[in-house]
Amino acid sequence: MPDVNPFTPTFGTSPPLLVGRDSDLEDFREGLRDGPGSPERATLVTGLRGTGKTVMLNAYEDVAGVEGWLVISETATPNLIDRIIHEQLPRLLADVDPRQTTSHLTGVSLPGGFGADREVSERHAPRAGLRSQLTLLTDVLGERGGVLITVDEVHRKGVGELRELGMTIQHAFRERRNVAFVGAGLPSAVDDLLSDEVSTFLRRADRRHLRTVRPEEVTEGLAVPIRAAGRDITPEALQIAVTGTGGYPFMIQLVGLHVWRADSAATVIDPDQARRGVDHARRKVGQLVHASALADLSDVDRSFLAAMAHDDSSSRMADIAARLGVSPAYAGQYRMRLIAAEVIEPRGHGLVNFTLPGLRDYLREHAASSHWSPDVDPHPTGRPELPGAAQERSQLPRPPDDNDTPRLP
Ligand SMILES: Nc1ncnc2c1ncn2[C@@H]1O[C@H](COP(=O)(O)OP(=O)(O)OP(=O)(O)O)[C@@H](O)[C@H]1O
Ligand SMILES: [Mg+2]
Repeated sequence: MPDVNPFTPTFGTSPPLLVGRDSDLEDFREGLRDGPGSPERATLVTGLRGTGKTVMLNAYEDVAGVEGWLVISETATPNLIDRIIHEQLPRLLADVDPRQTTSHLTGVSLPGGFGADREVSERHAPRAGLRSQLTLLTDVLGERGGVLITVDEVHRKGVGELRELGMTIQHAFRERRNVAFVGAGLPSAVDDLLSDEVSTFLRRADRRHLRTVRPEEVTEGLAVPIRAAGRDITPEALQIAVTGTGGYPFMIQLVGLHVWRADSAATVIDPDQARRGVDHARRKVGQLVHASALADLSDVDRSFLAAMAHDDSSSRMADIAARLGVSPAYAGQYRMRLIAAEVIEPRGHGLVNFTLPGLRDYLREHAASSHWSPDVDPHPTGRPELPGAAQERSQLPRPPDDNDTPRLP
């Protein structure tokens, strides 16, 4: 009897086998071992939706755990610093040294001039308790490990708290304390954040951009969990499944899940099951990933993608400009933005194609039901009008870097 389905197409859930990220994790391990001052002790992970930022944070935390470090795992939502001060650090201090903790946390004044009196501290940055508790914790730990702080979904909205956290970590670095930081966010959100008056600490952090995974690694990411769970897959079926993922991390899990499900009674997954599984995954990926990926983009960006989705394969820039009714130069600017955002990629001279697997199908399918659909179809091409197009045409005269348009890297 095979085991349960091993694949995990759920955001934030670590996969049965994390593939293609070994060198990033190995560098981080070295960074922890090398001591204060090593660049990986301040890392910023970026990647599109579903490329595995959150599960990479989990993996960084696991590496830290193996190296004997303590972990504070957070998300950049409001009251981040309060949670670290009042929940995370006290929890770790209590675990490490219950006796010291109680005596130190009740109203002591610590070196550096930050009193622990909360009333005073709340109006001053950094808040008392953050630096003092981190100091205390790293003192107690001594050379026996350190403290890793991870923050998911960093975003401009959290800039104040991130700056405060950054200043405190910077101080700890200067005092050669064993502290490390890993943040994660969408590339556009991180660039946005760094363009703000955020601390130099974050700007200098080691950037790790998560890309698609190479076919050899995808092969491993599918075959190993299938075999570990008691079934097998033929080489041809495996090839179909690997190609179906496009190397996109979320798709490794989604294709895996549906290929497994195509006939869960069969001991061996054959090409037919693989094909059905890939089809199923492609139909699902849109609502799971593309909907939010598109929501991150500006209206004009979406319109450009909608214009591309008219084609069955690579699109010619001249056709896109004509469909949008704009000049080639104007369309060229959006091409650059979308390439930078990794939603599309150049394919030879004057051609572009989608990077995300299944995005074309998703854009096509959502034409009819979309609230962006126009009342009158000015492009009677036989295909339904695509999301964004009508609204886009009215917006196109706006300059490309209008303030309302979210800026892409
Ligand atoms: N390297 C990998 N190998 C195999 N599966 C992966 C890998 N990276 C991510 N996954 C899988 O992809 C899915 C998405 O991962 P995750 O939630 O970390 O993405 P994310 O980048 O944080 O997305 P979002 O931007 O929406 O928060 C999960 O199901 C995860 O198990
Ligand atoms: Mg995430």
